[in-house]
Amino acid sequence: MLFRQIINEDLGCASYLIGDPVAGVACVVDPQWDITPYLAAAQGCHITHVIDTHTHADHVSGRGRLQEATGCTLWIPPRAGADFPHAALADGVQITLGAVVLQALHLPGHRPEHTGLLISDTRRADAPWAVLTGDSLFVGDCGRPDLATDAHAGSLALWQSLQRLLALPDHVEVWPGHLGGSLCGSDRISAKGSSTIGYERAHSPLLALADAEGFAAAQRQLLGIKPPDLDRVVALNEGPLLTTSAPAPALDGAELRRRAGGGGVVIDGRSAAAFAAAHIPGAISVPLGAGFATRAALAAPRDCDLLLVGSDEAQARLMADRLAAVGRQYIAGVLAGGFAAYLDEGLATQALTRVRVEDLPALRAARPELVLLDCREEREHGQGPRLDGALHLPWWQLRDAIPEGLPDDLPLGVICASGRRAGTAASLLRRHGVTDVVHIDQGGVATLVGAL
Ligand SMILES: [Fe+2]
Repeated sequence: MLFRQIINEDLGCASYLIGDPVAGVACVVDPQWDITPYLAAAQGCHITHVIDTHTHADHVSGRGRLQEATGCTLWIPPRAGADFPHAALADGVQITLGAVVLQALHLPGHRPEHTGLLISDTRRADAPWAVLTGDSLFVGDCGRPDLATDAHAGSLALWQSLQRLLALPDHVEVWPGHLGGSLCGSDRISAKGSSTIGYERAHSPLLALADAEGFAAAQRQLLGIKPPDLDRVVALNEGPLLTTSAPAPALDGAELRRRAGGGGVVIDGRSAAAFAAAHIPGAISVPLGAGFATRAALAAPRDCDLLLVGSDEAQARLMADRLAAVGRQYIAGVLAGGFAAYLDEGLATQALTRVRVEDLPALRAARPELVLLDCREEREHGQGPRLDGALHLPWWQLRDAIPEGLPDDLPLGVICASGRRAGTAASLLRRHGVTDVVHIDQGGVATLVGAL
């Protein structure tokens, strides 16, 4: 049989291409917005079915694009609120792909409709060898319960679903809907793509808890920030079907600045070093890399006109594609010719001071008035390590303005765990008018605590 896990590294999403090459048929489960990997990996199989395990809140499903490309049948659980023609993936329903059989397993908790799939290769055995757990059981973690319902009710339902999974034999492989980097789990979620029921039963801390109430209490402690724009993403996924996003116009530097002056928000996807050297005044730095789309969507006001800047135009278009995958389907413009073309136009630029974390002690000795701003999440800050005397504010809270209580007239050195979020936070501070800002990069709080 054909079985491929296809990972979206930007969002930490796992999707699956499953089929029977002998029969020449395949299906895709939880397709990402960019459908080219499925068409490329299909090995001549015709994609006849596309299944979503639930209405996703963190990414836009590529189901409409796959149906347009293949004419496939779309499946989604009942109660998903789907506003498009579909077949109902009710508990126990079987989908046959040649000798491969998928059986729906209702696993509520993450969302009420959430449904996993047991996979059998009947040429070898009727019993399932694997289960697609969607957003119920992850490697080392479980799905978050608070995106569709009250967190406590979600956890109690999820606990029952997990018992259903744990009743499967030890050898059954676990293939989840997310891995490390996703906001649909906690920071315990592994970067590993699969596991087994037996291994997770033995070694997953959440599964070792005694009862549903204990599980709910433990999950409450693990909740981090929710995916940005989740209500918009859910609405897009409920339908009608999406097949394309409008292509963003290419704008020269002068026009891009004019649009930025009229309320547009510039996202700069170049490296932190390039941004520090020179950038368009007011731009937000979100280097293109894993987690770009989520960070950019958290950094940019919800309904603003987005203007994208890359080292070249292709990079800006890649940024637009990534943003479309998280529901920012409309981009007001990309910088034509990349940042070099902007410089050639002779337009204004700004610089940002950036130091390596190992050079910070020397900088503080030279500038004792510098105040450190720790911009990690609440949970990271709460559980330490921490810096004495540092201010703390999660980076994304700088999105719209300088929050009340944060002095805007101090020289601020912005630090996180790696330097990545600190760069975005530093650019947001500059955008909101703080003039003396230092981006502390290539390390973070733990590096610094270790060096003191
Ligand atoms: Fe989800």
